[in-house]
Amino acid sequence: MKLKIVNVVGARPNFMKMAPLMMEYQRHPDKFEPKLVHTGQHYDDNMSTLFFEQLHLPKPDVYLGIGSGSHSEQTAKVMVEMEKLLSAEPPDLVVVVGDVNSTMAATIVAAKLCIPVAHVEAGLRSFDRAMPEEINRLVTDALSDYCFITSQDADVNLRREGVAPEKIFFVGNVMIDTLLQLKDVSLKSDVSKRLGLGGSYGFVTLHRPSNVDDKQVFAEILAALDTIQKDLMLVFPVHPRTVNRLKQFGFWDGLRGWKNLKLTDPLGYLDSLCLMANAKLVLTDSGGVQEETTVLGVPCLTIRNNTERPVTITEGTNTLVGTSQSKIVGEARKILAGNGKRGRAPKFWDGKAAGRIVECLLKHPPKR
Ligand code: UD1
Repeated sequence: MKLKIVNVVGARPNFMKMAPLMMEYQRHPDKFEPKLVHTGQHYDDNMSTLFFEQLHLPKPDVYLGIGSGSHSEQTAKVMVEMEKLLSAEPPDLVVVVGDVNSTMAATIVAAKLCIPVAHVEAGLRSFDRAMPEEINRLVTDALSDYCFITSQDADVNLRREGVAPEKIFFVGNVMIDTLLQLKDVSLKSDVSKRLGLGGSYGFVTLHRPSNVDDKQVFAEILAALDTIQKDLMLVFPVHPRTVNRLKQFGFWDGLRGWKNLKLTDPLGYLDSLCLMANAKLVLTDSGGVQEETTVLGVPCLTIRNNTERPVTITEGTNTLVGTSQSKIVGEARKILAGNGKRGRAPKFWDGKAAGRIVECLLKHPPKR
């Protein structure tokens, strides 16, 4: 009997986490019958379709077409559609990745239908419940039967919350499986040429509501970037939420006047990886980018007051800089002076995490 597994993706950061798992199932065609469901939380070509192509993700078996909306709308729509899907043909297991609204919504539905859930990237905690992803992580982990963790701190977090130790499996980081697999291909990208980049540059990403939805906070971060771009070219692929806010707050035209700033639409996986790998420094509020820069050995300044990925600070190249202009600029200058952090890849961030997950599922098959 093959294990029927429904695998759920919804938003950009899910795609690179799911790709290696889908590949790994294919190595055991007699053991697994995987189905890929895309909720459609992200739907733009450059937030979704491009990633499917570059990551060699199979075309989704089901596309729910949820789209944008408030948190409740988005979550509720995914739940309604997932319930229809899972009730019609209940699988043996639902696999969810990361911490986006689609992750939590699919988990709640599966758990209520008594279908076992596996959460890949479980146990991360920022301890900041103002962050929508923290709520998603707490709910998803509480309801999951398999908590696949990327680092030991997640084990501590889950046990503290009463998760049974036998549900926790330290497998490593699937996103790094994708990075290691595609790094060489990405380095062949001609993105630097297309953007007209000559020498050194910094790579910037910003999209977190706490940074871009608050005009004052966003203004302060932009002031820091303005100062830095006087010394270093900055490349800034702009997330749709961030474009909306830049325009709404009247920052957009000013930004386009900066001499050393390249604004672009969101980039595909390969172009982003290439730009990150060759950057002098990375400024971000993303979760995944903190991990990717650690493995690439590129200094990363995280424009947040907390991180759910502390191992990128203790072992990697990450530094938390908050949102104050002076701190951001000060830390950037240290890196430009040659004093950036040099880290190492944490344990099991080795390209084999998806293999460990599949082995675990074969050894401890889900019971309904
Ligand atoms: C979501 C995730 C976040 C992740 C981020 C990566 C949640 C709670 N948040 O945030 O954890 O880091 O994805 O990108 O799930 N939009 C488009 N086209 C798209 C998708 C979105 O234009 O394809 C615009 C819409 O205006 C939308 C806004 O972006 O309202 C925000 O999208 P949404 O999916 O709600 O959250 P993200 O900010 O992308």
